[in-house]
Formats: sequence, structure tokens, C-alpha cells
Amino acid sequence: MPYIYGGENGCFHALNQNAMSAKKITLIVFAITMSYAVLRYHFLDSIPASDIPFFILNKALAYSGLILFGVAGLRIKSSDRHQIGMAAAYCLLAHVLITLTLFSADYFPKFLVNDGSRLTLYASLSLLCGVIAFGCLVHLWRVSISTRKGTEFSLVQGLGRILLIFAAGHSALMGVPTWLNPSMWPGSLPPITMLAFATALIMLGITHQSKRSND
Ligand code: HEM
Repeated sequence: MPYIYGGENGCFHALNQNAMSAKKITLIVFAITMSYAVLRYHFLDSIPASDIPFFILNKALAYSGLILFGVAGLRIKSSDRHQIGMAAAYCLLAHVLITLTLFSADYFPKFLVNDGSRLTLYASLSLLCGVIAFGCLVHLWRVSISTRKGTEFSLVQGLGRILLIFAAGHSALMGVPTWLNPSMWPGSLPPITMLAFATALIMLGITHQSKRSND
């Protein structure tokens, strides 16, 4: 991370450099997840182009938010941690708002029982995990804004890891039936739910390791 010392101008420059770097990370993560989502769900599957700007974007935002949250958690002692965490929070807020706007039997048939009027048990549990994870995020968001601390291991002891566990549950409970059917994967590409589950577990593992070596 480039730091330039020397009075107010130096600090301002350092802040701009950090903003650039957080922006770059956010853009790269979003570009990769959006390209993957468009390739898998539009080009290799049958989701129409008209759904790219909202339905498919929602998948990319959900996965970008999770990755950025993990990246922010791992950037201990980095001053752009707060900004990457904020980018994660905005992606996940957009994911929730888009989901609530789209939620219907036409867009999410696998979440609903046959007549499309009620949630399946797995959908209920998956959404509950999502809401709990989002609650953790809102709390971390509030603490991060009020303290702007990026140098400590945990903003709120253990809450980031609880979020990752519920995000993993959220993805697994909605995705497992598709995971078990690789012959149905468009272009043999794994579903984003599976990638998100693996990402959450990997981040939990790394965080656990660094937590142990910090103790
Ligand atoms: C921190 C909180 C959350 C995280 C990290 C998260 C993450 C994810 C991820 C990675 C996916 C898989 C993307 C896909 O393949 O579609 C997903 C899908 C989904 N999430 Fe969340 N989510 C969160 C909160 C929520 C909340 C609060 C709701 C309910 C309002 C929700 C509803 C959904 C739905 C309905 C899907 C399926 C979207 C689709 O299949 O197109 N999520 N979420």
C-alpha cells in the first residue's frame, strides 16, 4: 500500500491512493463475477439478455459482496479495509433490494412449493440464514462507520465468522440439489451457490488460522 507521509497533503494523497486500490479491487471482483454469471446463466443457459441488468446482476452482486467481505476481513492492518468492507456492504444491500423486488414464482420457482404460493422448507431456512448474515453485516457496517478502524483483527469479536457461516448455509440450502447434478451444469461450470459456499469455507479457514496465530 503506497503511503506518502508529510502533513495534511500527504495524508490526503495517501487516502486517495487507498481509495484507488479499494476501487480497483472492487471493480476486478465485480468484473470477474459478472462475467462468470453472464457466461453461465445467459450464454450457456437459457436466461434471456433482458434479465442481465437485474436478475443476473443480482447473482454477481451477491457473490462479489461475499468475496469483498472476505477480502476486507483478511486485510488486517490495511487502511483500505474499511472501504472494501463498505463496497461489500453496498453490493449485499443491492442484492437484498433486488431479491425483494424480483421475488416471484417466475424468477424463483425452486424456492416455492408446487402451486407457487408458499416457501419450501429449504428455501425458508436458506432465506433465514441470509437474513441473519445480513443482520451481522449491518452491525459490522455500523461499527465500521463509527470507528473507521482497519487495523484490528476483529471489529466485533467473531461476528465476521458468524456471517460467513450463515452465508455458507444460505448458499448451500438453496444450491445443493443443483450441486449434486453436475451433468446439468451449463458448460460444466459450477453454480455460483457452490462457488460461494466454497469461498465462505476457505475464508473461514484462513481467518481461523490467522486468528490462532494472532492469539
Ligand atoms: C450477508 C448477507 C447475504 C449474503 C452474503 C448472500 C449471498 C448470496 C449468494 C452468494 C447467493 C448465490 C448467488 C446465486 O447463485 O444466485 C445468494 C442468492 C440468493 N440470496 Fe442472498 N445473500 C445474503 C442475504 C440475503 C437476504 C437477506 C436475502 C433475502 C431477502 C437473500 C436472498 C437470496 C436469494 C433469493 C438468492 C437466489 C438468487 C438467484 O438464484 O438468482 N440473500 N445470496
